Amino acid sequence: MTPGGVSAGIKFFDPYPIFMKRAQGSRIWDVDGNEYVDYLMSYGALVLGHGAKTVCDTIDTVLGTLGTTVFGTPTEGEIAFGKTLLDMYHPGGSIRFTNSGLEATTLAVRLARAHSGKRRIAKFEGHYHGAVDRLLFSYSPEVAKAGEAGSPVPIADSADVDKSLLSDSVVLPFNDWEATERILTRDAEGLACVIMEPFEEGVIPCERHYMGSLRKLTRDLKIPLIFDEVKTGFRVRLGGATEFYSVLPDISCLGKIIGGGLPIGAVVGETDILAHLDPRGKQGTRVFHSGTFNGNPLSINSGKATVDALMVPGAFDLLRKRTESLMSGISAVLDGRDIPNQVLGEGGMFNFYLTSKPVRCYRDVKSSDLRLRRFLDLEQITNGVYLKPENRYCLSLAHSDDDLGVTKERFAQSVEDLLASAAS
Ligand SMILES: Cc1ncc(COP(=O)(O)O)c(C=O)c1O
Repeated sequence: MTPGGVSAGIKFFDPYPIFMKRAQGSRIWDVDGNEYVDYLMSYGALVLGHGAKTVCDTIDTVLGTLGTTVFGTPTEGEIAFGKTLLDMYHPGGSIRFTNSGLEATTLAVRLARAHSGKRRIAKFEGHYHGAVDRLLFSYSPEVAKAGEAGSPVPIADSADVDKSLLSDSVVLPFNDWEATERILTRDAEGLACVIMEPFEEGVIPCERHYMGSLRKLTRDLKIPLIFDEVKTGFRVRLGGATEFYSVLPDISCLGKIIGGGLPIGAVVGETDILAHLDPRGKQGTRVFHSGTFNGNPLSINSGKATVDALMVPGAFDLLRKRTESLMSGISAVLDGRDIPNQVLGEGGMFNFYLTSKPVRCYRDVKSSDLRLRRFLDLEQITNGVYLKPENRYCLSLAHSDDDLGVTKERFAQSVEDLLASAAS
């Protein structure tokens, strides 16, 4: 009935996806009644865990006091939450809410094009910005077809992507400054923006010298720099990658956590760029943006409740400490069995790669042992730890020390099970 049995391609995995029925805190139960410690956390959106009391209470209050789920008008809540987000991500700037991360990246790119008067978009190989034609290239290309490492070529990620868009697209190699500088300098004249995940896959860091050079060069060349912080916002630090690097992009995109488990997205950035959204602006420079559910009170208030809870002194540090504990537990198990590994992550999110080589970009991920990793993740699911195979671990404030202990034991068991089945 539904192709692949899923409502989004990413939810599929071999041999089949698992249907879930119920969740609470750090735990999730499937339709057969099996219980798992959950590290998917809805792809990172749930930083307080499933059904956090503050979020549920807020939703009840909104429903009980506002008398509606959506007004279709501006609300005071948007202003209050918008101020919080701006203070953290772009002080003195402007904000516009959307319904998803994909809508935020789409809007950010449109704004950059309107502002610069240029067409071409540069993105990084292996970086994801949502399923929109303009940005749906070179996210997961076949390496053999994607050109040399230092001069990757744009490859469409979906059969329908209009190939003519590819001539307006430039691909950059993450963490290779020499090549990036060459490409940007060569193409500067036509470039409307550079958009990036400051941590590839949410976990592979942009090296600091690279980030500094990229910010400087894009500023010198007057190319707006867009941080897509849909994964990293409120996860690598409270102030996202913007805080981690102390680098201010021209525009940032937020999503996931800022909805507290309900659909949301936001674009924050320089006021003169977002001014193109002002409906009173001159025709010709105005950017059209609309959405029936933009800024709806349920998403805004559950997002604000989530962010407020995360900003309580000590809360983020606890999330970070627990994440680091699980990271070192996982690498200790792999090291103990002489399985080469790289464990990468910051704040409340990490992943591990089965390779002895440092992982700095998409091609390094592709050359790690993804097959072994997939089997290991399937063993973990069998042993009661849920994550999308090969995907990152997202922790929440609901993950207790006990959960971490159980997870480490089950990880060790999964490694043993895998080695035993390989030997038999
Ligand atoms: C970095 C990044 N940008 C954009 C998106 C798209 O967000 P959404 O799924 O809310 O449309 C995602 C989704 O995972 C993402 O990770």
